[in-house]
Amino acid sequence: MSQEWVAKSVGELVLEKPSRSKVFEKVGLDYCCKGHQALGVACAEKGIELSAILQALEAQDAAAHQEEDQTWRESVATAVDHIVSTHHVFMKECMPRLDFLTQKVANVHGHEDPRLLELRRIYLQFQEETYAHLEKEERVLFPMCLALAEGKTGAAMGGCHMSVQMPVNAMMHEHENHGANLESFRRLTDEFVPPADACNSWRAMLDGLHEMEQDLHRHIHKENSWLFPTAIELEKR
Ligand SMILES: [Fe+2]
Ligand SMILES: [Fe+2]
Repeated sequence: MSQEWVAKSVGELVLEKPSRSKVFEKVGLDYCCKGHQALGVACAEKGIELSAILQALEAQDAAAHQEEDQTWRESVATAVDHIVSTHHVFMKECMPRLDFLTQKVANVHGHEDPRLLELRRIYLQFQEETYAHLEKEERVLFPMCLALAEGKTGAAMGGCHMSVQMPVNAMMHEHENHGANLESFRRLTDEFVPPADACNSWRAMLDGLHEMEQDLHRHIHKENSWLFPTAIELEKR
């Protein structure tokens, strides 16, 4: 049965069972921005042994006894509501804290580990882009998705004749930037592992960055693999 998984896209595999994301996270396989790639292709590109991944996925599926909550994708409305109230709220809560911590740790320890200065520089840019990104989704793209789900087009959408494909492309492009920034945070912090003598602020910063990475991966996955393709399908009908 697991041979069927080889041709399936990584995003699809996670949509079926979200806990599979843990397996992909462990080996650094991108299931959000590159979620469209078939598992076989993604493994070949990353030099990951396919049989080991298939085994790990089977073990993960067996371990996840409980039915995972999939109710968020019952409709476009439930998906938008879930993404905004869960993932957007999470980002708006964690970014001010990480803004404080990345600045503090860079100021105090930047001379010991100059990568902290680079981390701070990238974080500031990431944060600015992310606030703007959330705003664009909430003000432009998500209302378009909701209108399409209600069967509205053109004039009914406030005279807007723009295809949903345009903002979707723009948001997916920004997701790729977010993914690249998350990779930089990981690379500049030895995979979020604190040095033995790290102070509590340093540890809290790494913990916060790691937590943000996990949430943002799930967030982007839900948009790229379900919400955006669903809106595009609705528009075609
Ligand atoms: Fe979002
Ligand atoms: Fe997004």
